[in-house]
Parts: sequence; C-alpha cells; structure tokens
Amino acid sequence: SRNKRREICRSDIDRLNAPFLAIYESLIPAEEEKAKQKQLLTSLEKLVNKEWPDAQLYLYGSCANSFGFSNSDIDVCLSIDDTDITKSEILLKLADILQSDNLQNVQALPRARVPIVKLMDPVTGISCDICINNVLAVVNTKLLRDYAQIDSRLRQLAFIVKHWAKSRGVNETYQGTLSSYAYVLMCIHFLQQRKPAILPCLQEMEVTYAVTIDDTECAYFDKVDALCDFGAQNKERISQLIWAFFDYWAYRHDYASSVISVRTGSVISKQAKDWTRRIGNDRHLICIEDPFETSHDLGRVVDKHSIKILRGEFERAANIMQYDPDPCFKLFERY
Ligand code: GTP
Ligand code: MG
Repeated sequence: SRNKRREICRSDIDRLNAPFLAIYESLIPAEEEKAKQKQLLTSLEKLVNKEWPDAQLYLYGSCANSFGFSNSDIDVCLSIDDTDITKSEILLKLADILQSDNLQNVQALPRARVPIVKLMDPVTGISCDICINNVLAVVNTKLLRDYAQIDSRLRQLAFIVKHWAKSRGVNETYQGTLSSYAYVLMCIHFLQQRKPAILPCLQEMEVTYAVTIDDTECAYFDKVDALCDFGAQNKERISQLIWAFFDYWAYRHDYASSVISVRTGSVISKQAKDWTRRIGNDRHLICIEDPFETSHDLGRVVDKHSIKILRGEFERAANIMQYDPDPCFKLFERY
C-alpha cells in the first residue's frame, strides 16, 4: 500500500493551509524579545570586556538563525584569543566574573560535550548558555539564517517540524533523537529537492563568503537578496509541504543507504562516506551530513532503540496528514 498512497488532495490543502500558518504565527517571537536579547548581550559584553578587552560575544543557535520560538533560551559564543590559559580555565574565570554581577544561577559545566557557563538574567528573564570559541556554530547559524531569507516557506516548515518534534518528544539528543539543528537541515534539504526547487544549494554557487575554522573551509554564496524569487516557480503551500515532508521521512527515504546533504543539495550514498557500519558510538542509522564538518553525521546520536521511535513518529505524522480530519490538533498531541 506504500506505493498506492494518494497525493493529498487540493481541497485538503486549501482547508489546512490557514490553520498551519496560524500555528506558525503563534510561535514567532515578538520584536521586543529580540531587543531584550540584544540588551542582555550588550551587558554581558561589557562585563567580559573588563577582563578580556578584545573578546567578543556572538549570538548563535535558534536566537540568531531565525528558527527560534518565542521565550527560548539564548546561545552565546565567547570569542577570545588568549592562548595562555586553557578553555576550562576561561570557563571558570567567566563564571566568576558573571557570578559577581547581578546574574542568577551562574553555573560552569566544563565537562559537558560542549563546555558552557549557564546563567539567568533577572532583568530580562532570559536564560543563556555561553560557550567558548565555537566559531563553527556561529558560521552554521549564519548559513541557516541565509537560507531562511530566500523563501518564507522554509521558516514556516521548520517551525512546524520543530513544534511537532518538541510536542512528540523527539527533539532530545540525550535520548537518542535529533537536535533542532538537524531538523532544520532536513527541511532545507527537503526544499532543495522539490520540483521545481524551492531552495538553491548555496555551497555549490559562486563563493561570496568564506572563512576557515581550524581546518574546515566554510564557503558559500551569501548574497541571498539576489535570490528572493528563487522558489517562485514552485507554488506549493505549507500544508502540502508538511504532508510531503513527513511522507518522505516515513516512506520514501532510503535509511539503509542514503545520506542527506545540504552541502551538495542532493542525496549521497553511505558507501561514499564510509558510513555503512557502526564505528565507535556512531551507528549511522539516519544520516544527516553537517554542511561544513562533512565527517560529522548529525544522526550519530540515534541508536537502535531510538530509530524505531523516530521512524514510528514520522509514520504517525504522515498518516495523520493523510487521513486525519483534524491534523492540526492530532499532529502536536503531547506524547
Ligand atoms: P532550540 O534551542 O531547540 O530552539 O534550537 P537551536 O537552533 O538553538 O538548536 P540546538 O540547541 O540544537 O543547537 C544550537 C546551535 O548549535 C545550532 O544552531 C548549531 O549552530 C549548533 N549545533 C548544534 N548541534 C551541532 C552539531 O552537532 N554540530 C555543529 N557543528 N553545530 C551544532
Ligand atoms: Mg538553543
């Protein structure tokens, strides 16, 4: 029956588009929230610059990639050149500096996978994680933000997918499901694959932006203003794209041999990347290539237990989109 599935019909698309857009609108952060984030960043920068005058703070993650919901925590990266002290010494020093100010719950986590200092600002009510010299994350944040500028359907789709993943409990990397970053890459890849394409492949175009971080070259076309009509030939609306996204991950993706790759704008083979077997903790049960760190599979956190949960959720979502009379309710039902 997998091959006999009908396309979602025209009247369903028309009926579902407005409710999905309303959900999307309800998740977008208000402008004053952005202002509060900037205000917090500026006051943190002042504190940090007393100790390290040349250090800089950057926002990254969902507060800067345009895929952030309202009231989410912010991710900050401290960029610092000091080579005399180690990363964990910087982290502890940073926690000290912040502790002595008016900030709450300051906590250094030097042994985490990404070492951070956590804190809460009582003035704005915003919680924040600060990492050290994680420049790649700042650059992949820019890539995501640039893709979002090209076609508004990316932001709509990614918000709905993230909202679904959070509601269904499959946005928990420590439980073996996927990060928000991975879900956004899945959405970008998906829109690159539509016929006609809704998104281009920026890394295959003329290079207008390039940085090298450690040994990783990050280069792509970032003059996205020039691409604002790119997806205009494709008239698909958000309800149709949500249906097709879940249909793809439930029934069309070849989990056994395919890797999705935003970098190339296509699907590549596990064979070509030597991701065919388990190496250490990397099982490669669902393969999502990082656009810059190409040896990095964002599906590496998924194990043989959680892949079943994840694929079960994709199938559930696809079936709801196909058959349920009120998918907007059912799709986001708490698990
Ligand atoms: P929410 O907090 O869930 O709204 O989403 P988020 O966009 O902040 O995502 P997440 O917390 O998963 O990650 C924060 C940022 O860290 C991402 O936007 C990326 O820039 C970066 N990041 C997360 N995971 C990885 C990873 O495995 N590799 C790399 N290179 N960067 C990552
Ligand atoms: Mg985050």
